[in-house]
Amino acid sequence: SDDHLARIAASFTIHPDFPIKGVNFRNILPVMRDPQLFGWLIDECVARIKDKFSQPIDLVIGLEARGFLFGPAIALRLNCGFAPIRKPGKLPGKLATVSFKKEYGEDVFEIEEDAIMPGQRIVIVDDVLATGGTLRAATQLMEQRKALPVGTFVIVELLGLGGRNRVPSCEALFSFSG
Ligand code: HPA
Repeated sequence: SDDHLARIAASFTIHPDFPIKGVNFRNILPVMRDPQLFGWLIDECVARIKDKFSQPIDLVIGLEARGFLFGPAIALRLNCGFAPIRKPGKLPGKLATVSFKKEYGEDVFEIEEDAIMPGQRIVIVDDVLATGGTLRAATQLMEQRKALPVGTFVIVELLGLGGRNRVPSCEALFSFSG
């Protein structure tokens, strides 16, 4: 409900000049300190995902690191599986990888090859959409694994950082200036 969304948003904190000067950092993690607020947040995420993405959803993918905090709770309530996308060197076995440009240099994402079957309906979950670089790379990794369709969902979109251009179809529960 709008009341729940307002109370969730009221738990978020703003940190000027973090982690560097000029950045207004939005910290959403305080929502997790209160189980009632956290439960409402997961309910709102699940309701939005059910409303916007093709059903049934087969798998939620969470991005390292804060996608790991919200993705599994959302997956449980959707009654679907969860798999992590991680930075290099963390996952064992056969992996699928994608490399992508960051502000400085390249980075790599990995997923266990067996986690994704062709034709699975996937929702990629992260906490914040900022520049969109990681969410776009994760989408490419899913498409490489022949998952279809692939949706993206975040709790907070930060406006003005280019994320909307890189991941045009991303669903966001809240939008704030970046
Ligand atoms: N909050 C959380 N994560 C972020 C932010 C922010 O403001 N900007 C880039 N990543």
